[in-house]
Amino acid sequence: MPWPLEIRGLKAQYGDKVILEDLDLLVEKGEILTVLGGSGCGKSTLLKHAVGLMEPAAGTVKLLGLDLLQADEGEKKEVLTRTGVLFQGGALLNSLTIAENVALPLEQHTDLPGAVISDVVRMKLSMVGLFDAAGLFPPELSGGMRKRAALARAIALDPEILFCDEPSAGLDPLTAAGIDRLIRDLRDTLAMTVVAVTHEMASVKLIADRVLMLDEGNVLFEGSLAEMRESNNQAVQDYLARKAPAAAGGTGTLLAALHCEEENK
Ligand SMILES: Nc1ncnc2c1ncn2[C@@H]1O[C@H](COP(=O)(O)OP(=O)(O)OP(=O)(O)O)[C@@H](O)[C@H]1O
Ligand SMILES: [Mg+2]
Repeated sequence: MPWPLEIRGLKAQYGDKVILEDLDLLVEKGEILTVLGGSGCGKSTLLKHAVGLMEPAAGTVKLLGLDLLQADEGEKKEVLTRTGVLFQGGALLNSLTIAENVALPLEQHTDLPGAVISDVVRMKLSMVGLFDAAGLFPPELSGGMRKRAALARAIALDPEILFCDEPSAGLDPLTAAGIDRLIRDLRDTLAMTVVAVTHEMASVKLIADRVLMLDEGNVLFEGSLAEMRESNNQAVQDYLARKAPAAAGGTGTLLAALHCEEENK
């Protein structure tokens, strides 16, 4: 059995700016991996590489056993139909209703008849508690409802692996916990593998089997939450304590500090 996600020696950059360097990541089937790290450290960039939206400057990315760099468009498309992505911000189409948004991947990637698609859409909307919102447009929903709608769309095709970029960020604690529980339930009921980017420790506690922590383009820590708590690394402990790093630093440090302030509000 291939790893659902196998990344080796990944180098990610925008122009000359290197964001991730020599990153290795293996994700096991059925696990929930949470990716942590300060703002701008490259979490979303990592996800974009994992689903082939960006090409690595170096290294390999295998998604559900397929080497994305070697694959042709047809193979890539097939693997992406088995992959769910919840983008940071949701990325719903405002001109379509919630039901139409969720139906989109089913229409694009399957030959299912319209009636079956409607049934699947209703089922997915029920799973995220949005059955009654099917006919509303994204701007008519609250932030938490939009995230749940985006999640329903991401799981429309019953993906084997689900990528979520900050699924519960910016939501009130109860709504956030509801989304986290939903992600855990999906893993439990559909045996999905989940890679979730977050900077909420509350989310990590609720869902993480394993934590990957990024800093300055490298892996700062990888292991369980219990192991994270026992880590001798000061930056890991600062993160757990939600403290800004002590050393004076560049923008990264300032951003991390701002993040901490924001989160402590
Ligand atoms: N399209 C782009 N072009 C150039 N630089 C980019 C682009 N997208 C992101 N970056 C830069 O890459 C770095 C990593 O960005 P990324 O979005 O991966 O961070 P992140 O860890 O997801 O942050 P956040 O927690 O704020 O979402 C940042 O310095 C960002 O400015
Ligand atoms: Mg991001």
